[in-house]
Amino acid sequence: MSGWSHRHVLDLAAFSRDDYATVLELAHRFRSMPVTGARKLPALQGRLVATLFFEPSTRTRSSFELAAKRLSADVQSFSPSSSSLSKGESLLDTARTYVAMGADVLVIRHRCTDVPAQLAHELDQAGERTVVLNGGDGQHSHPSQGLLDLYTLAHHFDPHRPQPEALQGKRIGIVGDVLHSRVARSNLWALSACGADVVLCGPPSLVPDAFADFLHAPPPGQTVDPVPQRGRLQISRNLDECLSGADAVMTLRLQKERMTDHLLTDLDRYHRDYGLSHERLRRCAFSGPVLHPGPVNRGVEMSGALLDDRSICLVEDQVRNGIPIRMALLYLMAASDPVADSPRPPAPS
Ligand code: NCD
Repeated sequence: MSGWSHRHVLDLAAFSRDDYATVLELAHRFRSMPVTGARKLPALQGRLVATLFFEPSTRTRSSFELAAKRLSADVQSFSPSSSSLSKGESLLDTARTYVAMGADVLVIRHRCTDVPAQLAHELDQAGERTVVLNGGDGQHSHPSQGLLDLYTLAHHFDPHRPQPEALQGKRIGIVGDVLHSRVARSNLWALSACGADVVLCGPPSLVPDAFADFLHAPPPGQTVDPVPQRGRLQISRNLDECLSGADAVMTLRLQKERMTDHLLTDLDRYHRDYGLSHERLRRCAFSGPVLHPGPVNRGVEMSGALLDDRSICLVEDQVRNGIPIRMALLYLMAASDPVADSPRPPAPS
């Protein structure tokens, strides 16, 4: 694909608006194709995609594996509990093992920030062809989730042309545990790049004031911001106010496993102050969609009834869209491999 310059995909801070347009366009084509059974696409035939998840995952890992299989790649998944990690093997040596077995792509998730970036650096230094796709690192980055959320929103606002322009001037609320969320950080880069204004909403313990400076250019690891003009970022402590002016809202799981202090003791109070329900949306005259990256704590971030209401809650669309988005990423990474044959692009829908 012309213009695609990312060997590894580590952080959306490095994406230009054209990069978002490329991924969304390709995902939209993949989404409208029947790609199961005998009709799988041959694009990654003979390639090996290895998923190395050092943290639990339901959606991301299965979605990457399905995406790779729909493009006819071989898929190998790694489980820490039944591997030689338990015998003391280092993460890097584990990754090298998959490289030696011929992995073209390593999709890696780890609880520590920058593990995928360090691995990518090591592979580059060693002159390996294998590329790294970040499946979520610590609180830092979750690029494929940011992209599938972007696609889901763009498709909601413009089903015929789900492109970055669909987000221009929209106001998107992100509610809850922003502090511990790599999803929120990736969404901030993606949404602001497409011209959306983002309102982060939650108590100071979960949305510290310092987040107001998050988008200050240049992003970490970049000498200049690849996006000349981003949407604005605001912080709100009041969910009703946040909802009243918003075109869409995303709520986040309380990441208890990352909370080092007892930041929240009273979940009923949290739901009262920052939880979503039909009643609250009506009161605030909010008519947009509700998103959540999952997994959801029913009755905490949102009521069970709202989670089950597909006319408002797009959680299942997010999961469904994850596959074509990950197909697009795997396809682009394979296409930019200078040594292997380029995969044939799918026809426009
Ligand atoms: C998120 C993650 O693991 O970062 N989930 C996901 O990938 N769909 C968010 C979370 O764990 O709450």
